[in-house]
Amino acid sequence: MSVSRTQVAIVGAGPAGLLLGALLAKAGIASVILEQRSAEYVLGRIRAGVLEQIAVDLLDEAGVGARLHREGLVDDGFLLVFGGRVQRIDLHALTGKRVVVYGQTEVTRDLMDHRAGAGLPTVYEAEDVALHDIESGRPWISYRKDGVEQRLDCDFIAGCDGFHGVSRTSIPASVLRTFEKVYPFGWLGLLADVAPISHEIAYVNHTRGFALASLRSPTRSRYYVQCALSDRVEDWSDDAFWAEFRARLPDELAAKLVTGPSIEKSIAPLRSFVAEPMRHGRLFLAGDAAHIVPPTGAKGLNLAAGDVGLLAQALAEHYRGSDAGIDDYSRRALARVWKAERFSWWFTTMMHRFPDEGEFAERMQRAELDYLTSSRAMQTAVAENYVGLPL
Ligand code: APR
Ligand code: PHB
Repeated sequence: MSVSRTQVAIVGAGPAGLLLGALLAKAGIASVILEQRSAEYVLGRIRAGVLEQIAVDLLDEAGVGARLHREGLVDDGFLLVFGGRVQRIDLHALTGKRVVVYGQTEVTRDLMDHRAGAGLPTVYEAEDVALHDIESGRPWISYRKDGVEQRLDCDFIAGCDGFHGVSRTSIPASVLRTFEKVYPFGWLGLLADVAPISHEIAYVNHTRGFALASLRSPTRSRYYVQCALSDRVEDWSDDAFWAEFRARLPDELAAKLVTGPSIEKSIAPLRSFVAEPMRHGRLFLAGDAAHIVPPTGAKGLNLAAGDVGLLAQALAEHYRGSDAGIDDYSRRALARVWKAERFSWWFTTMMHRFPDEGEFAERMQRAELDYLTSSRAMQTAVAENYVGLPL
């Protein structure tokens, strides 16, 4: 077995792991990232594309924000569409903040390029990663690379390996508590090189189901329709998608719709999930390894960034002699996670069709939307959550 050592071993080279590695490097802390897939596979994942100011600031702090500022689309607001009406939520007027529309794939690419450019070690296609002695002061990780067994000794392990990773399940079942809600529908997403119907993201509550109009650039659109959990992506031709998407748009937006061949099409389930605690011994969880939100509020990447910002600061404090930050990490991270879980659950519940919950639920949605359009106080509450609550 080949043995090596680092200060912080990071499992997972998604946005959380890569951003943590970049922030640790800036603090002079060594890390090794172990990723089970290839870099190409990681970059092939199409995910959401809205960054809160906190995420932008952390990317800037990590020295990774240049392309984001060149190519990201800054939005002052977003659109709520229901009953054939379009209601704009003016984020900047209500909160003084904005959001940046910039694909998660591009964030991941920028972070990968930064890490490679700095010569920092990332082991792709690391097999059978397993965590050991996380309750001791000398944790270590075993894995296999090119058929050779490896051992990585470290001071700390950051579990940034997503919902299906090994880190969360390395916490003893007697310690770990999980909370979950699975939604009775999915999102069918389509990416196409067509001009978007709006430069501000539009969320649609329609009797046929939820729809979302987002974008990646002035020439690339990202659209979604709520679909049945039983649907398979092969059930949906491009024409079927465009017809359904158009049917859920109000006339003023449908008139702007440009269709074209999909360059990506996929169905994602929706769930709310939180694991507590986010720290056990020398293991810290960050990002999807610890929590999942329905994508309605675009909080997934932003929560991962917030976790990593807190964790990088806490680890830097440890190496400067204080464990106050790492001892408080789980509490602080979870306080923000649960508020984002609430907002994402509320927004999902307000905007989607729940066929099994009958007409009363539909009336509650309409009352909520009517109140939202008539109340600056409610709009401010929604805007504060959408632009991101403080760390
Ligand atoms: N060993 C090594 N790597 C692993 C393992 C394992 N056993 N299991 C999973 N991984 C890797 C995955 O291949 C993936 O590249 O960990 C990475 C986790 O990345 P993400 O799932 O993207 O999670 P995270 O970095 O927390 O980013 C959260 O990404 O999934 C979206 O919606 C989510 O926007 C949110 C953001
Ligand atoms: C996206 O651009 O993919 C996107 C935007 C906003 C959301 C979810 C997804 O709420």
